[in-house]
Amino acid sequence: MTYMITGATGDVGARVVRQLTERNIRPRILVRDAEKARALFGQSAEVCRGDLADATTIRSAMKGAHTLFLVNVGPEIPQRDEAAAAIARDEGVQRIVKLSSLDVEQGLAIGVWHSKGEAAIRASGVAFTFIRPTGFMSNLLAWAHSIKTEGIVRSSTGDGGRPFIHSDDIAAVSVAALLDEKYAGRILSLTGPKSLTFRDATQIIAHAIGKQLVYQPISDEEARERYSRFSGSAEETEAHVALWRAIREGRLAAVGDGVERTLGRKPISLEQWASENVHHFLS
Ligand SMILES: NC(=O)c1ccc[n+]([C@@H]2O[C@H](COP(=O)([O-])OP(=O)(O)OC[C@H]3O[C@@H](n4cnc5c(N)ncnc54)[C@H](OP(=O)(O)O)[C@@H]3O)[C@@H](O)[C@H]2O)c1
Repeated sequence: MTYMITGATGDVGARVVRQLTERNIRPRILVRDAEKARALFGQSAEVCRGDLADATTIRSAMKGAHTLFLVNVGPEIPQRDEAAAAIARDEGVQRIVKLSSLDVEQGLAIGVWHSKGEAAIRASGVAFTFIRPTGFMSNLLAWAHSIKTEGIVRSSTGDGGRPFIHSDDIAAVSVAALLDEKYAGRILSLTGPKSLTFRDATQIIAHAIGKQLVYQPISDEEARERYSRFSGSAEETEAHVALWRAIREGRLAAVGDGVERTLGRKPISLEQWASENVHHFLS
């Protein structure tokens, strides 16, 4: 049985590959950078060089694959999910496990892209499992620079909460879904253990690194200006500003039990994530 993993050099995908290899499964991975993939996984994964924007490379990587773990990013998610699903159907792939987003349920910008991607996969007729996580704990690494240089975290999320999730939990649920047919047709909505404001998250990191940090609320306008300095596109910037506003309005605070129902254990806490990542926040 061949498991084909995309996004394998990314946060969740790399963990999925590692968790499969720990079970003595050698996945096939579609990557843009074969050197980077070999540095990460050595011979424990079968490396196929390709691009999710290039149908020819997807088709050749998908030959003989049984199950596909699909990670697409950015505004092209709908078209790229649709293209991958059509090729999967043609090549006889039995199921697509798609890394989607909990924001599908709110109709928020990035969630809209995933919602269209999910619809295209459903329309392809290939069996699916949709993994819908909330905001990743690893997003907080974006704070490393201002924490190291100024001791400040700025956010337009006000006092709204989010139940951040550890990428290991997303990967573990994804692996469970890849390995067991009982997840066909299922949507797995995933959150961390507890809703936390960004002020709470700042204090948890402060405690882990043993330094005082200041949490500074900022406006949507300032958040837009700051994010646009390194954003890929105006569309991506607006998607993030809308997301942070939704958090501020308390629309994304609900905690679910998807991780525990799938894995039989509690999700990993932000305190644990912070202790694993102290080195990123210290200069
Ligand atoms: N961050 C959040 O809070 C959050 C919440 C819910 C859902 N999500 C969803 O999670 C997904 C991102 O997962 P992640 O954080 O694990 O990803 P990530 O760390 O950003 O990595 C993205 C991966 O996709 C690969 N990739 C990008 N474009 C590609 C292309 N054209 N062809 C082939 N591979 C390509 C990258 O390869 P390279 O190494 O070559 O760049 C990398 O392996 C997105 O769909 C996002 O919407 C994120």
